[in-house]
Amino acid sequence: MPSLWTRIIHGTFSQFPHQFLKMERHILDKVCIMSSCLFLCLIMWTVPAEGYFIRNCTVHGSLNYTDRLKVLCYKMSFHQVPSDIPHNTKVLDISINYISQLKEGNFKNLTNLSILNISKNHIGFLEEGVFKDLMSLYEMNLAHNALREISGGMFKGLNNLTELNLGYNHIKSIEPSTFQILSNLRVVNLSFNALFDIEQIREVLKHFRLREIYVGGNNFSDFSTEKISNLSLNVQVLDLSYNPFRYLKITSDIFPNLIVLDLSYSGSKNGFQWEVKNTSFVSGVKRLFLNGTHVSYSQMQSILRSFSNILEELYLNKLQSQTMQDYLNVTCLVLPKLKVLSLQNNKFISLQKKQLEYCRQLEEIDLSKNKLQNMSKTLFQGLNRLGFLNISYNNLTAVPNATQNITSLQTFDLSYNMIKHLENYDFMNLTNLRYLNLAGNVITLITGSLFSNLFNLQVLKLGSNLILSIQGPLSPSLGKLEVLELRINKLSSIKNSTFLYLNSLKELNLIDNQISSLEEGSFLGLQRLKALLLGSNKLTRDTFRKTDVFTGVTGLNELQFFDNYLSYESTDKLSYPPFLSLKFLNRLTINSQGHNGLLNFPSNLLEGLTSLKELHAGNLNINELHPDTFSYTPMLSFLDLSKNVLSTIDSRVFRMVSSLTEFILSQSRLESLDFLIRANLTKLKVLRGKRNELNTINETLIRSLPLLKYLDLQQNPFTCDCDNAWFVNWSLSNPHTQVIYFNKFRCGYPPNLKDMTLESMRTDSCVVNINLICFISSTTLVTVTLVVSFIYHFLRWHLIYGYYLILAFLYDKKHRFQNKEKMICYEYDAFISYNTKDEPWVLRELVPHLEDTEGWKLCLHHRDFEPGKPIIDNIVESIYKSRKTICIISRNYLESEWCSREIQLASFRLFDEKKDILILLFLEDIPTSKLSPYYRMRKMVKKKTYLKWPENDKGTRVFWHKLNVALNAEEGYKKDPYINDLNEN
Ligand SMILES: *[C@@H]1O[C@H](CO)[C@@H](O)[C@H](O)[C@H]1NC(C)=O
Ligand SMILES: *[C@@H]1O[C@H](CO)[C@@H](O)[C@H](O)[C@H]1NC(C)=O
Repeated sequence: MPSLWTRIIHGTFSQFPHQFLKMERHILDKVCIMSSCLFLCLIMWTVPAEGYFIRNCTVHGSLNYTDRLKVLCYKMSFHQVPSDIPHNTKVLDISINYISQLKEGNFKNLTNLSILNISKNHIGFLEEGVFKDLMSLYEMNLAHNALREISGGMFKGLNNLTELNLGYNHIKSIEPSTFQILSNLRVVNLSFNALFDIEQIREVLKHFRLREIYVGGNNFSDFSTEKISNLSLNVQVLDLSYNPFRYLKITSDIFPNLIVLDLSYSGSKNGFQWEVKNTSFVSGVKRLFLNGTHVSYSQMQSILRSFSNILEELYLNKLQSQTMQDYLNVTCLVLPKLKVLSLQNNKFISLQKKQLEYCRQLEEIDLSKNKLQNMSKTLFQGLNRLGFLNISYNNLTAVPNATQNITSLQTFDLSYNMIKHLENYDFMNLTNLRYLNLAGNVITLITGSLFSNLFNLQVLKLGSNLILSIQGPLSPSLGKLEVLELRINKLSSIKNSTFLYLNSLKELNLIDNQISSLEEGSFLGLQRLKALLLGSNKLTRDTFRKTDVFTGVTGLNELQFFDNYLSYESTDKLSYPPFLSLKFLNRLTINSQGHNGLLNFPSNLLEGLTSLKELHAGNLNINELHPDTFSYTPMLSFLDLSKNVLSTIDSRVFRMVSSLTEFILSQSRLESLDFLIRANLTKLKVLRGKRNELNTINETLIRSLPLLKYLDLQQNPFTCDCDNAWFVNWSLSNPHTQVIYFNKFRCGYPPNLKDMTLESMRTDSCVVNINLICFISSTTLVTVTLVVSFIYHFLRWHLIYGYYLILAFLYDKKHRFQNKEKMICYEYDAFISYNTKDEPWVLRELVPHLEDTEGWKLCLHHRDFEPGKPIIDNIVESIYKSRKTICIISRNYLESEWCSREIQLASFRLFDEKKDILILLFLEDIPTSKLSPYYRMRKMVKKKTYLKWPENDKGTRVFWHKLNVALNAEEGYKKDPYINDLNEN
């Protein structure tokens, strides 16, 4: 019924806007201030404050403390230095990115930065003053970039810089003054650049604080002290390796402090010319590198002679043009103080007797990575100081007998040869040996008597062999052994008392064997054992069925049991919990890497582990956790349950683990983390839930983890709608928890936003919602109050009027419905609407004529209205009970509200029933101007039948006839030309 409402609005409220504007000004002002205030609040809400979050970086350390903030942004496709680095960062790593220039402001305010790594970018340009705020910077790595020159004030402000790495750039020129700014510089690396003249580094070398300079891999062809200085320098380490020197001339005493000289891979195929005017000019050099040089025998002689009386360490690895073998002895003769000789990678096949005859002073010799098959029995005779011998990565098939009598030997590396048997070798005289490495050979058997007399052995490595069994208890002489490594072998069982005498053993590594049974008492005697590593074997629950295999090792701190075949049919309590006696155990790994896994986690599997702090229980193929699972481990602080199909976890599981600080739940098909809300993990600092099915993270969850520092939820299918709005804003702006790589989180839902990042989701509309509700409700309240008081003041009557209209409308609807049900049957022929002032006319003229003469039944309010009933109800009812409504219009009538209402109500019926029920009867002439406020009546007059009471008696006959016709008419629409002029306006 649209036009009804149109009418109400038009009729009743048409003046509203006008009136509203006239409303008192200050009230309006108040409303405006309130609303703009609310909007301001909204804006402040959505602008993120400075938070922990830096796009693509991880932050280690706390924002709250000023010390040690480490920001790692390496390998993250940055094209620019990230701008949001916290000002208290101490270490910043932005290496391996695509940054091509550094501009002023890039490191603004990082006054606490002490280590900066920007290596492996594409930096070709450094704006002057870019580092000017970095007053605490100690170490800077700019290696592997595209710098071409060092010039101007590019290092301005780096007053504390001590180490500068500019290696692997394309530096061709260095402006002398550039390094002078760096007043604290001690170490400079300029290796592998495009420098070509030693004069270019003159100013660097002359830097009074400089101690180490690395200029290997440039294009220097001549080195002459004349070109550098005539004053002595402070340099201690000089690396000139990988330069195509034609000659090196040291003609003055400018290196009195030089200790280390590296000439590796220098010179051409013909070596280089070496000239030292006076051996005292290099008399401080203790360590010399000549690896990979092409120098001939005579050149070598002349070089070594210069260092004759002082050199202690000589590195001759991978020599190119000669077999060093032939003059090993001469070398030792020339260098009587030599202690360390490195001869790696020289293709030696065998070493003859007396080749080390003059090397008696040697303490360390490295012969690794050669092709040695044998060596003379007496090779090491007389080398009474030899403590270190490395013959790993050779082709030896047995431990060389030549080594049997090196009684001074402490470290002996025989790894990665082809040694099969140890039986023929006598370790008897190696009583000083502390470290023996036999890993990577083809040993198959270990017997108890093998290592007798190794009273001082601390570390024995036998990993990566083919050991099938260990026979008998290992030698009682291994009483000082602390580490025994047997990993990657073929052991299938451990026999009773195998380690009985290893009373000092701290770590036993049996990882990656085929062990399926541990005999009772396997670990007997290992009373000091701290770490037992049994991972990747074939142990099953039967291992623990009968007896306690851990007898004797109850002091164990760490047990690695990952990747075995431990499994259970149910979570029911075990009668023999396997770890019952390990009350000092801190760390337990029972995770699996692809076998069956536990299948079920017995509720008391961890019984006895009262000290357990760290549990790795990932990938166990378990689906649920019994609420009692961790009730035996009150100290638990690290728990990894990743890769189990858990879906959810009973909160009761965490009753006893209130100390938990790190919890890993990655890849567990979790759909929600809400179980943590009631877990009471108030000490949790790290929570990792990568690759689950998480959709939303809510505020309650986060609030239940008050100490959370790192939250890793990468690769979850987040819902990108307002449910996550709080999480998004919190991740971006909270200053306590770092949501690791939050900017990489993607939407999994809704489908049209799939693969969009969660970060790019618009949350302002969500935030507005909350505020908008407040805003709207308060505004509405204000407006309603204003409008109501306004209406009360100015439009009271319109309001009452509107109310009655609505009542009529409802009555109308009701009746219409009823009328449709049954045939209409009227009580009256006409309802007469008139003003009491016109009553005399009605009673004198109308009633007698219509009722008495014509026989119509009329409804008159003074006569027919039901007493006691509200007047409006009476009107409405009367209208509906009558076939027609006759309005007696006079000036009085128009002035009465009730009368005009009667017209209106009747007009509803007219409208509803689409019948002409209204008869307008004008008692007097009413000018258009008088009628015009009665908008509705005017409209009706325009298209309705109406009659006029004639002024003289002549017309009364016609009048009564017309009225009679009108009362008779069913659908009367007759236009009387007589009144037409009234319509024109
Ligand atoms: C963050 O890393 C991703 C890819 O790892 C990259 O596409 C994005 O541009 C990086 N963001 C910034 C700000 O560098
Ligand atoms: C051990 O040293 C002793 C005394 O020097 C010597 O007699 C013995 O032959 C040596 N043993 C081996 C196996 O070389």
